[in-house]
Amino acid sequence: MIVNKMKATAVAPANIAFIKYWGKRDVGPNIPLNNSISMNLDCAQTTTTVEFDPAMKLDQVTISGQAAGKTETERVSRHLDLFRKLGKINHAAKVESTNNFPKGAGIASSASGFAALSLAAASAAGLKFTQKQLSVLARQGSGSACRSVPDGFVEWAAGDSSESSFARSIFSPDYWNICDVIVIVSHQQKKISSTEGHKLARSSPFFDTRIKGMEKKVAEIKKAMRKKDFSSFGEIIEAEAINMHAVMMTSVPPLYYWSPETLEIIKSVIEWRESGLEAYFTIDAGPNVHIICQGKDKSRVVRKLKTLRSVIEQIIIAKPGKGARLI
Ligand code: PMV
Repeated sequence: MIVNKMKATAVAPANIAFIKYWGKRDVGPNIPLNNSISMNLDCAQTTTTVEFDPAMKLDQVTISGQAAGKTETERVSRHLDLFRKLGKINHAAKVESTNNFPKGAGIASSASGFAALSLAAASAAGLKFTQKQLSVLARQGSGSACRSVPDGFVEWAAGDSSESSFARSIFSPDYWNICDVIVIVSHQQKKISSTEGHKLARSSPFFDTRIKGMEKKVAEIKKAMRKKDFSSFGEIIEAEAINMHAVMMTSVPPLYYWSPETLEIIKSVIEWRESGLEAYFTIDAGPNVHIICQGKDKSRVVRKLKTLRSVIEQIIIAKPGKGARLI
């Protein structure tokens, strides 16, 4: 193998799900029970360099300049094993990963992280994959990472096997001028990770009802997106976020990801709408709120946020972004 072929750098975006992935059909390979729909965030990216090195005995992982802990390193090593096996490589690797958004900012770094790691590891191992194959591989690191591989607005088809569960772009980043105003009310790491949360989903008495409604919801949101019908789109994403959090709060044990600030922002967004500012919220597994608005309204949303009682630690404005790419 030619030495300079064993190092590569890739960048990948985080994504925000409009129709969420919560609960798995198959835990090991991260096969979900429903399709999900997301948008890549142009300004929240992970850049990862992978170098397979014959002189190294163990994988070395640094995240934002700091050595990764044991659990994180093991998770990365397990993911690299996929590429070592496919590329018939026995070497350990040096992995350097940096996020251009703050750690624990409520933007999941596992999606951008595993998408960037997959592309960099594939290229460093001299492997060429189609976008679909890369999405399948990224999914095995973290489910939502498969949605950070294609560009723009993305649908992850749940599938029923590892080969059939992957994401594809449904609209390019410039298709629709909408924004995600990310309101960070806490930088603290969540106590229950999404990996643990997915396992609890089935214990909610509402989970089966949620899953039964997903196919219709996915069809409806895609229709709204095709028509660029922002009002229908917004109503769907809000109801969907509450639906997922209802499952979270009624699982055993229950998961309360919200804080008082989360609720103040939820109620404010609804009030702003009544007074003519059309914005909608969505929330992942944490207290921070993603306010989705049209490009023309983003400054108004930020101005309104500044009038709230809640202490807001940071506001990040993201536009639809590209998927994973080599640099
Ligand atoms: O990919 P994971 O295991 O981090 O799960 C993501 C879960 C949510 O962010 C809550 C929803 C989603 O679809 O992104």
